Amino acid sequence: MAKQNAVVTGYGFYAPSRVVTNLDLEKMGVGTSDEWITTRTGIKERRFASDGETTSTMATRAARIALERARLRPQDLDLVVLGTCSPDYLFPATACLVQTALGAERAGAFDVEAACTSFVSALAIANGMILAGSARNALVIGAECLSHLLDLKDRTTCVLFGDGAGAVVLEASNASVGVESAVLHADGSKGDLLWVEGGGSRVPATNETVAQGKHFIRMQGGETFKLAVKSMADAAEEALAEAGVTADDIDIMIPHQANVRIIDAVVKRLKFPEEKVFVNIQRYGNTSAASIPIAIAEAAEQGRLKKGDRVLLVAFGGGFTWGASVMEWWGVPIPDRREKTIVERAARTVEDVLDKVRP
Ligand code: UT7
Repeated sequence: MAKQNAVVTGYGFYAPSRVVTNLDLEKMGVGTSDEWITTRTGIKERRFASDGETTSTMATRAARIALERARLRPQDLDLVVLGTCSPDYLFPATACLVQTALGAERAGAFDVEAACTSFVSALAIANGMILAGSARNALVIGAECLSHLLDLKDRTTCVLFGDGAGAVVLEASNASVGVESAVLHADGSKGDLLWVEGGGSRVPATNETVAQGKHFIRMQGGETFKLAVKSMADAAEEALAEAGVTADDIDIMIPHQANVRIIDAVVKRLKFPEEKVFVNIQRYGNTSAASIPIAIAEAAEQGRLKKGDRVLLVAFGGGFTWGASVMEWWGVPIPDRREKTIVERAARTVEDVLDKVRP
């Protein structure tokens, strides 16, 4: 059998409709201002989930769009892997909720938790399984409902984060393109610089831990900032080297969107042209695991990702964790499968119509 590569054949994102502007936060009286948030982070607004929306519901919406674009049925999926640090439950995995909502009845499903590096980690796992031949069609999702973990009285965190979901379909293909490298790193000794301390097995939920606000995101911003810049630049260089390419070969860089100043500093370190960097933090804030797949989907929709483009993804997050990946963009369904699926779909439509008119 010819060597299989893992190629992206579909992408989609979902952003909740509830827009929270910097001005909205300013009016809440938390001691912040549009001016501070804009100049320190680049964020102008973010989306918060509406009542009834959760990580799994947003992930399912993004996944449906990605599957539709890939012209793949949920039943064709072998794997649903979902990156998040704001799962619906401690368990079962949010991926299982998505798997059942989609009707992906053949698929295995599990979550990956590497905070803001979760999507790049999930992609690395799915890529590895496809290369190993243990999966052909994988749905890789990054989704977060961070607004439910925010202390709206803590100005150092509540202005930064937002909700949303993004997904890609990754398929085995004989095409010579696909994921070319994936590198992952971690330093668990700095875990308490960005964390949610309560609610797990070490600090189980009690009235006291809830009263102490231990179920909210807490961050030492300055230290996190410095490490983010160095680690993202290092990971990007490593992923480029592993793919056997240089920064000059990259058509678009899609970094994790935590702070526009972090992105600027990484770009300067790498001596990377600014115009090749995709930034949408101004509209979504930091959506952690969802930021890169949302940006992928937006970049593709805006025509900034074209077939044959070489893409660099790079992330940093709690843990600490960081990683990067280089891929050649395919982004459209594999031709032979697309024809077949259209025929299958037409056949199903005829059957559906017949079912309705049959006595
Ligand atoms: O996604 C995972 C990784 N996350 C990150 O990488 C985030 C990394 N960190 C950052 O992006 C930045 O450190 C922040 C945006 C969080 C903070 O920016 P900063 O320039 O590092 O500000 P700072 O923490 O040094 O705070 C400067 C001042 C402080 O006041 P004092 O002590 O100088 O009087 C803060 O209390 O700004 C104050 N401050 C605020 N003022 C108005 C902090 N947050 C706010 C706020 N509004 N929202």
